[in-house]
Amino acid sequence: MYKIAAIGGDGIGPEIVAEGKKVLDAAGERFGFDIEWTDFDIGADRYLSTGTLLTEDDLAGLADFRAIYFGAIGDERVKPGILEKGILLALRFYFDQYVNLRPIKLLKGVKTPLSGKTPADIDFVVVRENTEDFYVGIGSRFKKHQKTELAITRELYYAKFGLDIESDAEEIAYQIGVVTREGSRRVQEYAFDLARSRKKKLTSVDKANVLSDVYGLWRDVFTETARSYPDVATEFNFVDAITMWFVKNPEWFDVVVTPNMFGDIITDLGAMIQGGLGLAPGGNINPSGTSMFEPIHGSAPKYKGMGIANPVATIWAGSLLLDHLGEHAAAASVVSAIEKSIRDNVVTKDMGGAAGTATAGSYIAECVRKSM
Ligand code: IPM
Ligand code: MN
Repeated sequence: MYKIAAIGGDGIGPEIVAEGKKVLDAAGERFGFDIEWTDFDIGADRYLSTGTLLTEDDLAGLADFRAIYFGAIGDERVKPGILEKGILLALRFYFDQYVNLRPIKLLKGVKTPLSGKTPADIDFVVVRENTEDFYVGIGSRFKKHQKTELAITRELYYAKFGLDIESDAEEIAYQIGVVTREGSRRVQEYAFDLARSRKKKLTSVDKANVLSDVYGLWRDVFTETARSYPDVATEFNFVDAITMWFVKNPEWFDVVVTPNMFGDIITDLGAMIQGGLGLAPGGNINPSGTSMFEPIHGSAPKYKGMGIANPVATIWAGSLLLDHLGEHAAAASVVSAIEKSIRDNVVTKDMGGAAGTATAGSYIAECVRKSM
């Protein structure tokens, strides 16, 4: 018996989470476990009617669970950034979900825009650091005539960072990235362990040639950590170069470990080479706390309630959730069932099919129920 929290969220979120629950319940029937779902009403609607993003009660309630199944956040009625930072990033940080696990895998039957590449060529995992870097939210923005604030901030800025900001600049903005030894070590160790269970190759991403303080530290920690994993082959890639290699030679990669912001960027590219955002799952993992599984796409508000959204990324995220709980056979059967739905063309419009969200989800659930 597993207790799992669910946050449908905004836009298409509730619809796709509903399909994911169907599939996970089917996996429970087939593999002999029960899931007790607890829904949390968190998202734009509640924010607009009550002004709250996350309450103490939400956090205390969610802390009782090992896993949260998360749909999507984002709504046209709310200024961009409020819900994303106030809910999604707040949860990742609050629960210290320091690993963002994003498999880049071309499923059988899915078309990739990379000509000549097959499922054998596109099968790697990006491990994105999820609590540091330019996501820490330290920054400021001010105009020339905001005298007091400018003076204080300029002074502080100079004292702290030794940089003299051009005094007559019309407007100034800055944002600080923070990387710590401990933060780098824990996510890199996770990636090394993962590589050990796969093809034993780990690529580290950085931009240590320019952002040499933050990513210099990241790189030093990687070099040190690698000494404990002599059986894992390692390499460094600069982030600009890796975008090129993802396209040209995706078969080179097994596990890729990356600081937060670069990970955000390269996993959208990864999603495209695995067939599109509708197929890309992610897990926000705290190995000893509350983890959260979600599609990496957004809430697509214009498709809300139309029953046409692709539920596959969310269902696949459900498979990552099952893996996290140790239900490995059930997790694998969910991915096989997704592949069967593709083979049988019971897929949504974005994948060239005619099925609606619920039809596609029910079909995958049925395949899991019948799986051998
Ligand atoms: C993602 C998203 C988020 C991120 C946003 C919505 C805060 O783009 O999960 O990749 O930047 O991490
Ligand atoms: Mn992103």
